[in-house]
Amino acid sequence: PSTEIFHATATAPVNIAVIKYWGKASTKLNTPTNSSLSVTLSQDDLRTITTASCSPSFESDALWLNGAAHDVSNARSQACFAELRALRKAKEDKDQSLPPLSTYKLHLISENNFPTAAGLASSAAGFAAFVRAIADLYELDESPTELSRIARQGSGSACRSLFGGFVAWEKGSRNDGYDSVAVQVAPESHWPTIRAAILVISDAKKGVSSTSGMQATVATSTLFPNRANTVVPARMDAMKKAIAEKDFESFADLTMADSNSFHAVCLDTIPPIFYMNDASRAAIRVVEEINRCAGKKVAAYTFDAGPNAVIYYDESNQDIVLGALRKGTADVPGWTEKQPHITACLPEG
Ligand code: PMV
Repeated sequence: PSTEIFHATATAPVNIAVIKYWGKASTKLNTPTNSSLSVTLSQDDLRTITTASCSPSFESDALWLNGAAHDVSNARSQACFAELRALRKAKEDKDQSLPPLSTYKLHLISENNFPTAAGLASSAAGFAAFVRAIADLYELDESPTELSRIARQGSGSACRSLFGGFVAWEKGSRNDGYDSVAVQVAPESHWPTIRAAILVISDAKKGVSSTSGMQATVATSTLFPNRANTVVPARMDAMKKAIAEKDFESFADLTMADSNSFHAVCLDTIPPIFYMNDASRAAIRVVEEINRCAGKKVAAYTFDAGPNAVIYYDESNQDIVLGALRKGTADVPGWTEKQPHITACLPEG
């Protein structure tokens, strides 16, 4: 066969949810029980870069992440490959002069510029870059929202990393998952002074995977239906309003309340799931203290499926917030040596 190789490279940043996705409506379609909303971080800080190539000489689909071969036979990766190839095939059927890339095997080479095992939403950036790189290779005309439908099937939170700025993943109401997609709520330029400090408390891999954790919560938590059906829908509306009005205090109140609600349903799962540890709880106390001293909300914590803290603040309060975080966490066991890992991230753009 010909040894010609076609390739394209794309990057996708990490996103950190302020209204959390936790619970699958369908494990097959990877649709959520509730909508969620996140802020996409800067490409310069935490991102995945992926080169997708295809060639008639490749024998199988393959993926290397930070130099190590990763299995792509799982249903999630296969769903993404199949959907992207189908879109390319439709393009080739319309324009017979195009090379038949949809029939070639794909090789993906991915690199994260942050520790993969650090529980820093690596799958979100990973699957977003995976989909974006193949879409670019195939020269697809689909919009980010259309591509988000594909990335969602790789990893739910990945659908939100197709956009910069403030992004909602609307859960959708169709039973085929077609309208379970990401939409941009506001571009980064709308509120460019939002920052995220990431406190790396542990770079150990998370104990309970998000998929198995979510399934256990949906099956056993009695608090969960109230969160998914009542609390989160109201918070989604309130969060969109806070972002539209650049109201940091409301943004902070909603962010912290939703992180606590997510970790509460984890604790209410049988057997209970603990993602936060003593250092995480110390971070919460420091943020509470910063806000008490400031007399208003100037910082907001949030935690995903691991102990690391992400702290949102406005650039105008950078000195107060980062200064207090460094001082306030100096005595926390298992944290001091990680202090150089405090990074201030600019939003995308
Ligand atoms: O996309 P997953 O399956 O890795 O789930 C991520 C879930 C949280 O990070 C805990 C919350 C969120 O909305 O990102």
